[in-house]
Amino acid sequence: MKKFQIINGPNLNLLGKREPEVYGKHSFEEYLHTLRTRHPECEISYFQSNVEGELINKLHEVGFDYDGIILNAGAYTHTSIALFDAIKAISSPVIEVHISNVYGREPFRHHSMISGACKGVIAGMGMESYHLALIALSS
Ligand code: DQA
Repeated sequence: MKKFQIINGPNLNLLGKREPEVYGKHSFEEYLHTLRTRHPECEISYFQSNVEGELINKLHEVGFDYDGIILNAGAYTHTSIALFDAIKAISSPVIEVHISNVYGREPFRHHSMISGACKGVIAGMGMESYHLALIALSS
């Protein structure tokens, strides 16, 4: 069975409560249950942290072994050279995802520090951004 890791960054532990008009009404745990049901052929691990270094440690831990990583780095997307370097350092393909359409929001969200190190980017499809990333990685 192929192994995939979802990594969510800062403030994404508050999905369902945080700005529901932007990020929706469901917690990530609820969505993860649906995702696992829809992809019984995949082993899907989940990790969330508000701490930049913990996201980097998780990338190092799984990044030479897993078949793909789906990364929503939250606001670190727009600031973190360290995450760019971590993605470059590992061999598993990484897809950058965003729930919201970052290009339709504030200008500071229009630039990603990490896209250049990722296999692809999916943004603006709500929680289904994760499903689409999984399809891309598993096909
Ligand atoms: C986000 C978009 C980021 O700009 C923001 O900082 C987030 C969530 C998204 O999933 O839409 O925390 O990555």
